[in-house]
Amino acid sequence: MTMGRAMKNVKLRWVGGLLMVGLFLAGCGISDDAGRPLTTLSPKGKQARQIQDLVRPVFIVAGIVFVLVEGAVVFLIIRYRRRKSDEDGVDEPVQLHGNSPLEWGWTIAPAILLALLAVGNVQTIWALERDQVEAKTEVQVIGQQWWWEFRYDFDGDKKVDLITANQLVIPVGMDIRTRIRSNDVIHSFWIPALNGKKDAVPGRIHSWSLSADKPGIYEGQCTEFCGLSHGYMRMQVKALSAADFKVWKDNQLKGSVQPEPGSEAAAGQTIFQQKCMTCHQINGYDDQGAALDTNQPNPDYRGARHPLVSGNAPNLTHLMSRERFSGNMFDLYVSDEDASAARPAGVPNRGNLGNWLRNPGLMKPMAGDQNRGMPNLNLPEDEIRKLVAYLTLLN
Ligand code: CUA
Repeated sequence: MTMGRAMKNVKLRWVGGLLMVGLFLAGCGISDDAGRPLTTLSPKGKQARQIQDLVRPVFIVAGIVFVLVEGAVVFLIIRYRRRKSDEDGVDEPVQLHGNSPLEWGWTIAPAILLALLAVGNVQTIWALERDQVEAKTEVQVIGQQWWWEFRYDFDGDKKVDLITANQLVIPVGMDIRTRIRSNDVIHSFWIPALNGKKDAVPGRIHSWSLSADKPGIYEGQCTEFCGLSHGYMRMQVKALSAADFKVWKDNQLKGSVQPEPGSEAAAGQTIFQQKCMTCHQINGYDDQGAALDTNQPNPDYRGARHPLVSGNAPNLTHLMSRERFSGNMFDLYVSDEDASAARPAGVPNRGNLGNWLRNPGLMKPMAGDQNRGMPNLNLPEDEIRKLVAYLTLLN
């Protein structure tokens, strides 16, 4: 290889290396949030912004330290490398071992730096704690295998006003205090656009607050390994304007939709009362399917005949008011991508619900033999059709 070619190769390597770094940085993303719903770098609420305000200076300080230390390492490796002409014991550089000022210096300097960073850390932790004290609306967040339950107390009287699942609906610009716990194993609640992670630990209650600047949907994911379907345990926060939130809340406080007598959905309701209410609550009915004289959700609802480890399954009173089901995994409505002439976007996704009833374990790993997750009830096709007709009414 000629000298010129060798130089060209070195240059190409540099260009290639720079390109790789550029691509890597582009992957980290500076502007575009679409397709990266779990980025921690685009805060959309007060708490997430407080964290971002800490991350930025820490990252800059860490970056400067990285460049200085790595720069010194590279410089020393090149400057003091062993050359062909070097002989052991002849003209060796001055050895620094035992040089007290230097050793004190590189011990104390990082200690001071870390102490300064700790000040910012502790301040942010305190600020996030303060938010929780000031928040008025409180929601119990309960991790279950493998979905999230949300119980709202609007007026602070410690009574549960409504129970929903997988989609936490909040009014925009307001601090929402959550009290996070678990009914089975350890999960972790994480809506990166709105706040950091908080574990859901059995036997403990962890306070955490959320707020969103603008209406929108903010995705989340359970981030503590919690069994088979941990990866299928998602959730989302839907932030609504004050007026839209009131509409949503008023609808949630209503009783469930009653199907037309004699219709397919009415037959589905009967099947639901017999086979599903042992685990799933519809407000206004007990776990044997008998009608009650109240529409109040029952926080102590427990499946009598299907003793799930977590004790219960999602409250389905207003199922179709959500976007997705089963740990926020599957669309309740036909999405734009899945739309066709026969199934336009926005209509209930009967296919997803039907498949779920046919064999939930095919859509999401379940451990039915251990009473974890939705069991396969081996429902006949006509019952599945009737159940789907009933479920898609529950808006
Ligand atoms: Cu719940 Cu991982």
